[in-house]
Amino acid sequence: MSSKPISQPVHAGMSKGLTSYGDAGFSLFLRKAFIKGAGLSDDALDRPIIGISNTGSGFNPCHGNMPQLMEAVKRGVMLAGGLPVEFPTISIHESFAAPTSMYLRNLMALDTEEMLKALPMDAVVLIGGCDKTVPAQLMAAASVGLPAIQLVTGSMLTGSHRGERVGACTDCRRFWGRYRAEEIDAAEIADVNDQLVASVGTCSVMGTASTMACVVEALGIALPGSASPPAVTADRMRIAEQTGRQAVNLAGSALTPQHILTPKAFENALRVLLAIGGSTNGIVHLTAIAGRLGIEVDLDAFDRIGKETPVLVDLKPSGQHYMEDFHKAGGMRALLRELRPLLHLDVMTITGRTLGQELDAAPAAFGQDVIRPLARPIYAQGGIAVLRGNLAPGGAIIKQSAASPALMEHEGRAVVFENLEDMTRRVDDEALDIGPDDIMVLKQIGPKGAPGMPEAGYMPIPRKLARAGVKDILRISDGRMSGTAWGTIVLHVTPEAAIGGPLALVRTGDRIRLSVARRELSLLVDEAELQRRAADWRAPAPQPGHERGYRKLYLSTVTQADQGCDFDFLRHPENTGKTPL
Ligand code: FES
Repeated sequence: MSSKPISQPVHAGMSKGLTSYGDAGFSLFLRKAFIKGAGLSDDALDRPIIGISNTGSGFNPCHGNMPQLMEAVKRGVMLAGGLPVEFPTISIHESFAAPTSMYLRNLMALDTEEMLKALPMDAVVLIGGCDKTVPAQLMAAASVGLPAIQLVTGSMLTGSHRGERVGACTDCRRFWGRYRAEEIDAAEIADVNDQLVASVGTCSVMGTASTMACVVEALGIALPGSASPPAVTADRMRIAEQTGRQAVNLAGSALTPQHILTPKAFENALRVLLAIGGSTNGIVHLTAIAGRLGIEVDLDAFDRIGKETPVLVDLKPSGQHYMEDFHKAGGMRALLRELRPLLHLDVMTITGRTLGQELDAAPAAFGQDVIRPLARPIYAQGGIAVLRGNLAPGGAIIKQSAASPALMEHEGRAVVFENLEDMTRRVDDEALDIGPDDIMVLKQIGPKGAPGMPEAGYMPIPRKLARAGVKDILRISDGRMSGTAWGTIVLHVTPEAAIGGPLALVRTGDRIRLSVARRELSLLVDEAELQRRAADWRAPAPQPGHERGYRKLYLSTVTQADQGCDFDFLRHPENTGKTPL
């Protein structure tokens, strides 16, 4: 791995971005006086200053190794002659954020962006891990233009339940489904609860956190080999130390995120997203990060490259292994070597070397059964397909690698739930009129609906069907689903129901057709009838609390899924490129 300087760095250190007192000399004098109060010397303050974002939180066990990571990054910074200074930002965990973590992602991005602008640092190490944290940090870094390097916290270890290996959270959903189907009892589900999360760190399958870890390495803004070491391993701490060292090399250099996060780099990242069978959330996040740079993620072109990019990584939920196995199999460098013919190798990475140069220097390949060669894929096409049709004029997606083949060409009767509360109330009602060939449709869980685009697209199989052995049913919504979930589930229907998209017009009994082969999602209701329904449609009444604070800002400025659900005023004002190319 390279640790050479990128260019002739010029670091401004403590004199950067002075507080406004009307006298620059006094501002610096005062700043130094305060930081010396913490015991720092002039020698320390003359070094390149490396900010380190501390996203540790008692409410975020995915970041539970933050103290050890901090220590290792600081060690690396000091070994390279810099001064590490940590600073906090908000931290978001999937299960501890109401109404959803997605609702808060843009707040974390805003918080991080303003700290990067306000604080006197020459480069920054961004430490994130849980699903929304890495996207938030990269959205901020893309908007600021400060040299930045991403470090992920790393995945958790797997546990064991009665001799069976388990990990969050594909197995969470599998066991919960068995409990709902009354295949296992309350005592066993309590035992499972103890085993699913065996250590601190991010979910152990190819969920959104693992997806983003792989994607940021593919983007070139994290060190080679940094995506896969589990959170509690020595490898993870060594990567943290190396990240600190590299941040000093970056300090004051011209190698800012704008030079790394190019359309070609995003295309590489989208290929990787497809080849790992990655989370559908990855598209929304990559779209948001790219949008900060004026780069448009073209969903139709993404679908085209999906047809030539097979799934190579055999991890749950599309396959059978866990992140620690991916690491032992060589991690991202092994995957990128297999994908090499499909990648742009001339893109610059955070090391100051191109992706091609990094792959030339990567460890040699060895035998393993987690990362397949291009000639022997897990799934012949990319994991995600883009759907269009009168039900989703702005697009919808399906994770085809985690879907049931029998349902991917399907026409059926819609069973509509008007919102989450409606679904919760009725889904297990024995009187619910639903059969295994019907299609569950859930409205009002898009970016503005709910609000916050909850991961409720993975609707539970109605209990009476689950008891009868039904494991999958076609489900359609304007929401998201966890990257750890599986099933024939159409997501991100755009425009969403809350703003009067066609999804809002669907009624129970309507026929819907899904054809993944033709990339089609159609509501089989004639146009005149749809126009009548549209004329009658009324937006849901605002709820208490919608008129103030962050909720008001969110509801008035959040964009649709095809624009990454970023706030409209945070996206780059100009179109600077398209990806895939
Ligand atoms: Fe944090 Fe899954 S809940 S990564």
